[in-house]
Amino acid sequence: MALAIYPGSFDPVTSGHVDVIERARHVFDRVIVSVAPNIRKEALFTTEERVEMLREVCREFSGVEVDSFSGLLVNYAVANGANVIVRGLRAVSDFELELQMAQMNRCLAPDVHTVFLMTTTEHSFLSSSIVREVARLGGDVRGMVPPVVEKYLARKFQTE
Ligand code: PNS
Repeated sequence: MALAIYPGSFDPVTSGHVDVIERARHVFDRVIVSVAPNIRKEALFTTEERVEMLREVCREFSGVEVDSFSGLLVNYAVANGANVIVRGLRAVSDFELELQMAQMNRCLAPDVHTVFLMTTTEHSFLSSSIVREVARLGGDVRGMVPPVVEKYLARKFQTE
């Protein structure tokens, strides 16, 4: 049974991420979507909140589990018996960092393979950071994020 890990910050999960989850599920029997603390970015949502949102979103997809991890991604993949990491690519601009991460991961664990899935052009401009910015400034992010995320964003920025 082919198992893949789809790791990310998911701060918050966007419609682009959901598109990648659905595509990954077409390719792999089981997909573990796993929230990681990205030490290069300051998070808006806690890991628990990000997991909650993803669980709600992924409830409708069979074969998809939601989890979180800390530490090295390749160690987490191996511990879960997965030898594939899925990452989404939106545009050429994503490629440089993704290539660097994939090569580093291959260096650390040669048996773990990174597979890239392209997001739909409809969602290719979306990122969690641009969604956070627009929502923070009161803009409408409907359709750019799942409905549950709209609620979390509204709640977060109401209390700021
Ligand atoms: O959604 P993001 O922020 O682009 O995801 C990046 C993430 C979380 C996948 C990456 O930062 C990661 O793999 N973090 C785990 C720590 C790790 O293994 N680092 C070395 C590999 S580059």
